[in-house]
Order: sequence, then C-alpha cells, then structure tokens
Amino acid sequence: MVAAFITPVLGLAPWSRTSEAEDAAEPTARPASHAEPKNHAKGAGLEVAGLAKSFGDKEVLRDIDLHVAPGEFVAIVGRSGCGKSTLLRLALGLEAPSAGTVAIEGRDPRSGGGTHARFVFQEPRLLPWQRVAQNVALGTPQNFPRAERLRLAEEQLAKVGLAGRGGEWPGVLSGGQRQRVALARALVTTPRLLALDEPLGALDALTRIEMQDLLETVWRGSGFTVLLVTHDVSEAVALADRVLVMEDGRIAHEERVDLPRPRRHGDPETSAIERRILDRVLRRAP
Ligand SMILES: Nc1ncnc2c1ncn2[C@@H]1O[C@H](COP(=O)(O)OP(=O)(O)OP(=O)(O)O)[C@@H](O)[C@H]1O
Ligand SMILES: [Mg+2]
Repeated sequence: MVAAFITPVLGLAPWSRTSEAEDAAEPTARPASHAEPKNHAKGAGLEVAGLAKSFGDKEVLRDIDLHVAPGEFVAIVGRSGCGKSTLLRLALGLEAPSAGTVAIEGRDPRSGGGTHARFVFQEPRLLPWQRVAQNVALGTPQNFPRAERLRLAEEQLAKVGLAGRGGEWPGVLSGGQRQRVALARALVTTPRLLALDEPLGALDALTRIEMQDLLETVWRGSGFTVLLVTHDVSEAVALADRVLVMEDGRIAHEERVDLPRPRRHGDPETSAIERRILDRVLRRAP
C-alpha cells in the first residue's frame, strides 16, 4: 500500500514505505549512462503526455511530452517565467492540468492513491518553534514511537552532514544548513521521486557546490528519480543525466549529459555542454 505522499509545505503527510514488490521491481527504460547509480530500483518513472496549463486565458504550458526513467536525474532550465515551477507542480500533482496527462509509476498523482513523491523548495520552510530533529521527524511515520521517529531523523541528519545538530533550533543554522535539514526531511520519507525547485538558489557559491555534491551522493546512494529546476546551467550539467531547456511554456531542447561522475566544474566536456545549453537559453547562434 502506498499512502498519499506529496507534502509540499511541512511534510505532515502519512508515512508509507514502498512495498517489497515495488522495491524489487526492475526499472524498465533507464537509459545507459556512465552516470547510473547502482541502486536505481527505487526510482519512480514519470510520464507526461500532451500537457498544457492555462491560468485564465494565459497559456503557461503547452505540448509537454516527457518521459523520465526510474532513477534518472533530470534538470530543467530556462528563463524566468517560462513555466518551470508550473511544470514541476503539475508533474507532482500539486495542480491540475488544463489538458494532457501525468503519471508517476503509471498513476495519476492527483488520483489520491499517493505516489511517494516529495518536493523541496528554494526556501527550507522549517518550523521555527520545532528543533531540527523534530522538523525532520515530521516526515517519519506518525504511528512510530516518538523516540524512533527522532532516531530516524538523527540518522538522516547525519547523512546530510548534520550529525549531532538535531537538538538545535532552525534559527541558529546557516542557510545551507537549513536547506540540508529540508533535504533530510524529504529524504527521511524514502521518496521515489524528488522534485527540487531551485533548492540551492539562495546559497553562496561554495555552499552551493557542497550541496550539489551532497545531492549527487544521496541520489547515487538511494536511486530515487530527480526533477531539478535550476537557473544555474553549470549546476544542471554537473548533476543531471539530461537537461531540458524550457522556452515559453514548452520543452524546446534537451541535452543528454553522458559524462562520468563526479563531474568537475570547468572541465572541457562539461563546459562545452554548458555553452550549448546557455546558447539555447539565451537563443544565441552557436
Ligand atoms: N497561479 C497562477 N496564476 C496565474 N499565473 C500564474 C500562476 N502560476 C504561475 N503563473 C504564471 O505562469 C508563468 C510561469 O510561471 P512559473 O512560476 O512556472 O515560471 P518559472 O519558469 O518557474 O519562473 P522563475 O524562474 O522565475 O521561477 C508566469 O508568467 C507566471 O506569472
Ligand atoms: Mg520558478
């Protein structure tokens, strides 16, 4: 059984683990890549077909067809206002499409059956009156004993580099640390699809690179599927198996990044791919 599982704000949803059958299921269409994490059976596939979204008479998304393989890491870039966040919200069922379909592991995320998908936003959205471990524990099963929930939270905090910090208040943490807590709160639910909407956008350059490394490490270790919206093309190329470029509400271009990991910023191959994507985003002739 999979419980309702998309909790965009505070992670107060019911808990559910994937069933053994789901854990054992082999992914079907993951593309061959150097980048493949070893443990990718836990990722959820995403199918989007003919998706469109309008607000009033303003068409924001149109003609979106997208297949994301289980365990794939997909980054979405594009100019401000082109529809990236809207696509993410529709993909996770947080909003209804005007036309077309979305399916996570074959199920409409809005059907109420749950999809085991999680959302991480640019701002960490922690409860300031709850200690760090309690914030993370919000993602754990509510029917577990409190001590067990806190133990799971501490365990997850250690995985994001915050071992022993569970007793602190969110207010005393740095921006990067708070975002780690938000990531831990999402990860403690063992998501099969993680959607991140500019999660590192507010961080300084060095913290950002550290967080990129962390995200890649946990993704490779856990094998969930990732949809990452970012303004930063070099971040997209450093992390993703595939980068989608959105323009005016549609996917205008995509670039597969078939380079070994970990990738280094400034390597000639990554730089060449970055330049191609940037040219496309800025619509410059190559
Ligand atoms: N609830 C809404 N009602 C009306 N218009 C909306 C709504 N949500 C988004 N829009 C419009 O849809 C367009 C796309 O918005 P969206 O937030 O998806 O862009 P974005 O690519 O994520 O931009 P940014 O990079 O600045 O975050 C914008 O023109 C925005 O004003
Ligand atoms: Mg946005």
